[in-house]
Amino acid sequence: METVLSGIRPTGNLHLGNYFGAVKSFVQMQYEYNCYFFIADWHSLTTHPHPENIRNSVKTILAEYLACGIDPEKATIYVQSDVREVAELYLYLNMNAYLGELERVTSFKDKVRSQPDNVNAGLLTYPCLMAADIIIHRAAKVPVGKDQEQNMEMARKFARRFNQIYGVDYFPEPASYSFSDKAVKIPGLDGSGKMGKSEGNAIYLIDDEKTIKKKVMRAVTDSGPTEPNAEKPEPIANLFTMMEIVSDKSTYDHFNELYNTCQIRYGDMKKQLAEDINLFCAPIRERILELLKDEEHLQKVSLLGAEKARENASKTLRDVREIIGFKSDY
Ligand code: AMP
Ligand code: TRP
Repeated sequence: METVLSGIRPTGNLHLGNYFGAVKSFVQMQYEYNCYFFIADWHSLTTHPHPENIRNSVKTILAEYLACGIDPEKATIYVQSDVREVAELYLYLNMNAYLGELERVTSFKDKVRSQPDNVNAGLLTYPCLMAADIIIHRAAKVPVGKDQEQNMEMARKFARRFNQIYGVDYFPEPASYSFSDKAVKIPGLDGSGKMGKSEGNAIYLIDDEKTIKKKVMRAVTDSGPTEPNAEKPEPIANLFTMMEIVSDKSTYDHFNELYNTCQIRYGDMKKQLAEDINLFCAPIRERILELLKDEEHLQKVSLLGAEKARENASKTLRDVREIIGFKSDY
């Protein structure tokens, strides 16, 4: 069975973009693949979070993952910092990664520009840690959005390089993976672009009914179509995309027909959309709140995940140490 792995940094709550772009695929894949999902808390240290913030956001994101349907009996769900083997592999990969290639990574260059006072070595070697995350489980498929393509290229390069340097065929080259044939992009409802936490336009799985309604009613629209079957401008197309994803087909068809016959009232459409988003989120939200209360269960899940992940990671590390020329029996 092929191994699938993905991670997410604990830097806020899960939103509808995360769910439909990534988490939904995990949930479906856990039944067909050997799946590892982890919370990338070491990666989040590049921004120097407060210890209390780390504890809380790791706990929240774990509860949210579970609430979405990730089954800890099927998939291995763990916290990165619980699997110290990853740090050792990161050290080895750092020895074969070069300053020039790391400095050329676009997300690093962006950070140099946006936060010149905090260009730490962790940011520079982010792709090495991400490669270690992936190849420690010798993963073949990595479900990620388009924004991670360059990091994925680096992971393939480091896996290949290790094999070449030591004359082995040990690490497979991990491929990016999208469950549907085209990558899903959940739009923002503020006119253009995608939904995201940094874009400030996200609807979170934990948002209550009132908050959802407020956010949806604020969505940008225009004065309506003036001729039948007109093409939809981006803000309107975004509303329809959201509706296509969360509502019944008949609801979507109904409003689409009203649009095509110039009878649409966006207020009605938004009310319906808010209701349908709430219907979708409500059971997940309830589960999140339940799970957050059950600290013991969350601890059990992360302990079980850490055990399973460490077992596999230490196997890899034993091989790697031997390949490099170290004692492997530790
Ligand atoms: P982020 O929240 O940006 O750290 O992303 C975590 C995961 O969710 C990544 O795999 C992203 O590609 C995915 N993701 C985030 N926002 C969206 C969106 N608006 N549409 C689709 N996928 C998304
Ligand atoms: N870089 C990813 C992001 O910002 C998170 C991540 C870290 C990851 N390590 C990974 C994703 C390994 C997939 C596989 O979203």
